[in-house]
Formats: sequence, C-alpha cells, structure tokens
Amino acid sequence: MSALHTLATRALHLLDPEDAHRATLAALRAGLGPRAPAETAGLRVDLAGLRLPNPVGLAAGFDKNAEVAGAMLAAGFGFVECGTVTPLPQPGNPRPRLFRLGEDRAVINRLGFNNQGLERFAANLARRGAGVVGANIGANKDAADRIADYVTGLTRLWRLADYFTVNISSPNTPGLRTLQTGAALSELLGRISETRASLAGHAPIFLKVAPDLDDAEIEAIADGVAAARFDGVIVGNTTLSRPDSLVSRHRGEAGGLSGAPLMSLSTRVLARFHAAAKGRFALIGVGGIASGADAYAKIRAGASAVQLYSALVFQGPALVTAIRRDLAARLAADGFASVADAVGAR
Ligand SMILES: Cc1cc2nc3c(=O)[nH]c(=O)nc-3n(C[C@H](O)[C@H](O)[C@H](O)COP(=O)(O)O)c2cc1C
Repeated sequence: MSALHTLATRALHLLDPEDAHRATLAALRAGLGPRAPAETAGLRVDLAGLRLPNPVGLAAGFDKNAEVAGAMLAAGFGFVECGTVTPLPQPGNPRPRLFRLGEDRAVINRLGFNNQGLERFAANLARRGAGVVGANIGANKDAADRIADYVTGLTRLWRLADYFTVNISSPNTPGLRTLQTGAALSELLGRISETRASLAGHAPIFLKVAPDLDDAEIEAIADGVAAARFDGVIVGNTTLSRPDSLVSRHRGEAGGLSGAPLMSLSTRVLARFHAAAKGRFALIGVGGIASGADAYAKIRAGASAVQLYSALVFQGPALVTAIRRDLAARLAADGFASVADAVGAR
C-alpha cells in the first residue's frame, strides 16, 4: 500500500464507520482511488462464461448504488458486484448500524438494505465503463410479494449488468433468509428462471447464501440451483453466529458478522457446496479473505473466484494488488498452471 493510502486508511478510522465509508465513496468518485493493472499473469479465469482478468472481486455492500464500480475495477479488482439494490429506495435501519471490531479484524452490520432504489442504480450502471460488473438484487422490507421484487430487479437491470446475484441471505431484512429453504426456495428459483427465459440474451445468475446452513439445507439448495439452471452460488453472506474468539467491545451488537472470524466457517460451508454441486454450477468464495493465502484456500475448497469486503476496512483498497501477487506466487509454487487447475484441489 502506498504511504498516502496507509495514511488515508488510518485517518478514516478516526471517523464513525458509516461516515468513513461515505468519505471513501466520495474520494473514489473524485478519482482518488489507487490504480493497478487489470491483469496478473496466470490469474485469468472463466466464471460461468464471464472472462475475469483476475479472480478477486469486490463483494456486495461496498457500492450499494453502483457509483464506483469503475474506480474499484481500476484499483485492481477482477470484477465488482454492486448492490444490494431493492426496487424502491429505502433508508435501512436507524444508526448506529455499522461497527468496526478492530481487535478482531471484523465488522458487524445491520444496515438493512439502505439504498437509492432501482432507477438510480440503473442510471449509474448505464454510465459505467469496461470491466465485469454484477448487480446484486434484493427485496424491499415492506414488499407484499418478495419474490416479485427479485423479478422486477432482474428485468429492469437486464442488459445493464454482466451478471446477477439473487441475495436471499441478508440477516437484516426480517424473514428474508426463509427464502433459502423449502417451498419458498423452489418458488423463487422457478420464477427467476422463468423470467430469465423470457428475456433476450444471456447473463449468468448466482444465488447468494448464508454461511449458517446445515448439510441438508446445502444439499437441497444445490439440487434446486442445478434444476433451475442457475450458474453459481456465492458462499456466503455475513453470519449470525458469534465465535467465542471475539474480544472487541462491539461483539454483542445485533447484525451480520464479517471479516477474519468468518474465514474458517465460510470456507467449510463452501467446501460442502463444492461436494454437493458435483460440477453442476460454479462457486464464488466470500467471507474473511484478508490475504493471498485466504483467497487460495477458498479456491482449493472449490471457488472459481472470490470476493471480499471487510478486509478493505482495515487494509485499504490497495490490498487487492497484494492478494493477486501472493495468489499467483502460491499457484506457481504448487505447480498449477492456472486458477482453474487449483479449483477444488484439496
Ligand atoms: C457493511 C457491509 C454491508 C454489506 N452489504 C451487503 C449487501 O448489501 N448485500 C450482500 O449481498 N452482502 C452484503 N454484505 C456482505 C458481503 O458482501 C460479504 O458477503 C461478507 O461481508 C463476507 O465477506 P468479508 O468477510 O470479506 O466482508 C455486506 C457486508 C458488510 C460488511
């Protein structure tokens, strides 16, 4: 990381976390973000037909309104996922709702899908430049028919995003995670795939799940995703669990936990999805990645690509370059000619 960006990251930690995030977005919009080449030799991947210059993506929630995708691609991410966007704008939960757990290198958030809505998101996305950008879609808190909100998001943003993520795993919209099981899951998958079939052209669709799933739920989701011809599963969102290791004073706050304490849990669940997928769809590994070693562990557990967010809070956006360099070195040291060769190689 450059001295300037180290200093900026330290200064941001003097602010309330949400104000710091706003300041970061403003700096990125003003063109003050770091710049890195898009490619590192040997890191190119094909993710469900998407050609990524490298497999390290920006996870959803950083750029909820699709304002800074270009700046984050320029900072070296191989792909950027914007959102979660809901059809109508909504304010989210009352502040404070975002907490840094510094000693634990973790974050707790209960933002509750605060975002400016689909129309603003679509207008921002329409102005974007080159590079792979996904749209993470969700449901409004008060929606009478939540599944209809996903259909609305997919239809409105079709052709504007390179891929779509159906996010049914935020813990901060009451009842949303019930879409991960049983008849609700089947109905969701069915209605989304019907909608896709009715639209011209093709874009991959991923399902984003929680890391808080048991083996039977994982099997059922994998079979449902394959039957509905979704292209992949993102494993996963923040956790409602609170590992005993947490020491920070904010550890008791309600919301989803992300960052370093999520790494082992989410990688275990990822490996289970890899076994359950039986090659029928791709996996994207997310949760606690803060180094090249972490990214490599996700790939070896079955991920074709990875995403991160919380580590940026502690290490700044230049982290992505370090991860790419280290990942390339690890692949070469173990004799893998490409990322694809290492996927699931346990
Ligand atoms: C502040 C914050 C906001 C988030 N908002 C969203 C969101 O809107 N949609 C979503 O799918 N995931 C959201 N996430 C979850 C992340 O995309 C990611 O799945 C999770 O944080 C685990 O990765 P990490 O440990 O690298 O942060 C959010 C995470 C954080 C920390």
